Amino acid sequence: MFSLGDLRVPIVAAPMAGGPSTPELVAAVADAGGFGFLAAGYRTPDGLAEQISQTRRLTERPFGVNVFVPEPPGPDDRALADEVAVYARRLAPVAARFGSGLGTPVPSDDDWAAKLDVLADDPVPVVSFTFGLPPVAIVDRLHGVGTAVWATVVSADDAESAAARGVDALVLQGHQAGGHRGTFRASDDPPATDTLDLLDHVAARTPLPLVAAGGVSSPDAVGAALRRGTSAVQAGTAFLLADEAGTSATHRAALRNPAFTETVITRAFSGRPARGLRNRFADEFAADAPAAYPAVNQLTGPLKKASSAAGDPQWTHLWAGTSWRQAHAGGAAEIVRLLSGSS
Ligand SMILES: Cc1cc2nc3c(=O)[nH]c(=O)nc-3n(C[C@H](O)[C@H](O)[C@H](O)COP(=O)(O)O)c2cc1C
Repeated sequence: MFSLGDLRVPIVAAPMAGGPSTPELVAAVADAGGFGFLAAGYRTPDGLAEQISQTRRLTERPFGVNVFVPEPPGPDDRALADEVAVYARRLAPVAARFGSGLGTPVPSDDDWAAKLDVLADDPVPVVSFTFGLPPVAIVDRLHGVGTAVWATVVSADDAESAAARGVDALVLQGHQAGGHRGTFRASDDPPATDTLDLLDHVAARTPLPLVAAGGVSSPDAVGAALRRGTSAVQAGTAFLLADEAGTSATHRAALRNPAFTETVITRAFSGRPARGLRNRFADEFAADAPAAYPAVNQLTGPLKKASSAAGDPQWTHLWAGTSWRQAHAGGAAEIVRLLSGSS
C-alpha cells in the first residue's frame, strides 16, 4: 500500500474541485516526484472514471482521488430550506443583472456510493476524504483493494475521530487554507488554528503520518512544516496558476490583480465555510448566507458561472489561501521544484 515515505519530494498537489485539478496537473506533479490528487467533488462517477484513466495514460506514478463525504439529513433541514429561499430572494437582483437566474436546490450526496464503486472497481493508490469521515466499512473496503485512506481534519479532536476509523494518514487543514474548510458539518465554524499549530496539536495525540495544508506556498513554509514533523505538505493555492491547472481565466486574473488585497472565509458562495479573495459577493452576502450545503452552492451556481464567463471577478468564488501572492505561473513540475527548494 502507498506510504508517504515512498515520495521522492514531500509535496502533494491538493485536490481542487470545480476545475483546477486536472489529469495533466496530477501527472506533472507525480512525474516531478510529488503526489497529486484528482478531485471527485461535483463530478459524475463516469467523469471521475474517465479522469482516472486519463491520468494513468499520462503517468505511471501513483496518484490519489479526493471524495466529498455527504452530510446526513439533519433536524434543521426544513428551517434551512426556508433560509435558502430568503437568500435566493436577496441574490435575485444580481442574478438578473447577469441574466443567469439562480439554480434550484435539490438533495444531493454528490453520487457518494457510485463514486466509491468506481474506486473499489478500479483502485487508485490513495483516496482522501473531506467534509466528514468515511464509515469504517468504507475504509475497510478501500484497504481491501489496496488503497490507502487519508482523512482531512481541521482540529485535534477531528484527528482522533479519524484515527479511530482506521485511516492511514491525516491531512491537517489549517486556518490559512484556500477553498472549502474540511469541517464535518456545514454549520460548524472552522477553528482559526494556524497550520503549524494544528500540526503540533495533532502530532501530540496520534502517531499517524501527517500532511500539513494551508498557506504552504514557498520553500520556507515547506521547510518550516517539515521541521515541525509533517511527512509532506499539501498545497493548493501554489498550483492554481500552473499551466496544467484548469483554473478559469477570471480566477487566474484575479489572483494576479493587485486590486484584491485580502482573503476571507465565508459561506456566501456555497453554504460551507471557504476561503477566497474578498470580492463584492463576499462583502454583500456573507452575513445572509445560510449554512446549507449543497443547497446554497446549487443556488449560486449559474450566477457564479455567468460572472466568471463574463470575466467579472466580483460575483464568483475566487478560492485562494492567505499566501496567494506567492503563487507562481509556469509548469507544475517547476512549481514542485520551487516549493521543495531544489530550483
Ligand atoms: C480552488 C481550490 C479548490 C479546493 N478543492 C478541494 C477539494 O475538492 N477537496 C479537498 O479536500 N480540498 C480542496 N481544497 C483545499 C485543499 O485541499 C487544501 O486544504 C488547501 O488548498 C491548502 O491551502 P492552500 O490553498 O493555502 O495551499 C481546495 C482548495 C482550493 C484553493
